[in-house]
Amino acid sequence: MRVLGIETSCDETAASVVTLDGAATPVIASNIVLSQIEEHAAFGGVVPEIAARAHVEALDGIIEAALADSGTTLADIDAIAATAGPGLVGGLIVGLMTAKAIAAAAGKPLIAINHLEGHALTARLTDGLDFPYLLLLVSGGHTQIVAVRGVGDYQRWATTIDDALGEAFDKTAKMLGLPYPGGPNVEKAAATGDATRFAFPRPMKGSAQPDFSFSGLKTAVRQAATAIQPLSEQDVADICASFQAAVADALGDRVARALARFRQEFPDKATPSLVVAGGVAANRTIKATLHKLCAEAGFAFVAPPLKLCTDNAAMIAWAGIERLRAGLSQENGFDFVPRSRWPLDSISAPMVGSGRRGAKA
Ligand code: KG4
Ligand code: ZN
Repeated sequence: MRVLGIETSCDETAASVVTLDGAATPVIASNIVLSQIEEHAAFGGVVPEIAARAHVEALDGIIEAALADSGTTLADIDAIAATAGPGLVGGLIVGLMTAKAIAAAAGKPLIAINHLEGHALTARLTDGLDFPYLLLLVSGGHTQIVAVRGVGDYQRWATTIDDALGEAFDKTAKMLGLPYPGGPNVEKAAATGDATRFAFPRPMKGSAQPDFSFSGLKTAVRQAATAIQPLSEQDVADICASFQAAVADALGDRVARALARFRQEFPDKATPSLVVAGGVAANRTIKATLHKLCAEAGFAFVAPPLKLCTDNAAMIAWAGIERLRAGLSQENGFDFVPRSRWPLDSISAPMVGSGRRGAKA
């Protein structure tokens, strides 16, 4: 099986060819990701119109490069898988329409993929995990805990009621005058900071509701920052360190709750796994917190290589292979139209107040 994957839901233009050989071993034959960070940096966040235009300009070349890199031509491809949501609708239209055009011209099936399913199934591509397992997705657009029970069988156990975690990092950076994207810069500044100087809130900690919230923490950071003006380099470092400590603590509390629920719901799974995905998974303090939690709870901690944790098309091609293999490839085909909102789990109620409002709502 050989699938071409296309990803354009936010600010990465990506294409990849993934194959499954006779022994059912997956191989990433090519994986090209063009980041638009530079185009958006001046605005401190992703600008949808700029993103869509950049996808239009880059996508053809990226697809050609992915095919060339993998040593294949369209004739060797079994299907084309493209992200059809959730995400910025302009980018989704560019990716899905391009995929449909190529599929129609080459006479190949088209599989419309939910971007979140791509993240959810990556650990099977990288680590060969068996179902079920728990996924923590923490990116600029999403903050979710999902029970991954099978291909197309997902249950969202927690989501954010306001900001995504990566967004909280990005907004904190902006308030402190650090460049976009904020996460890596906040982490860097935090390294020389005093994490005990500011007692920032731990939103939702101990709450019976399993969800996340980060907007209160953001407000607390803003208040601390405006109370000090002008901020010295040490003040910035201390705020970053205190913010990161609060985030790790709050996140850890929510994850511990989900690990306990997983044990209850899947008592037969001897060594269950927690998988992380999304750009925030790069953060060492957060990673260390999750590692410790998993060790204490008897969970394996699975962190795929960062290149496959952040947005990429290999995960989309892989989701296409999983769908082909499970006989689900017909479900979302040529008739599928892009969806800016597309919950992975259609059973979970939407968040009160609509939850995400940003780039990847
Ligand atoms: O998954 P991702 O690359 O893409 C999208 O969300 O589209 O995640 C990007 C997010 C940004 O918000 C960025 O600030 C955050 O991940 N991030 C980090 C770190 N590296 C990236 N957050 C905290 N610590 C980091 N080291
Ligand atoms: Zn993503």
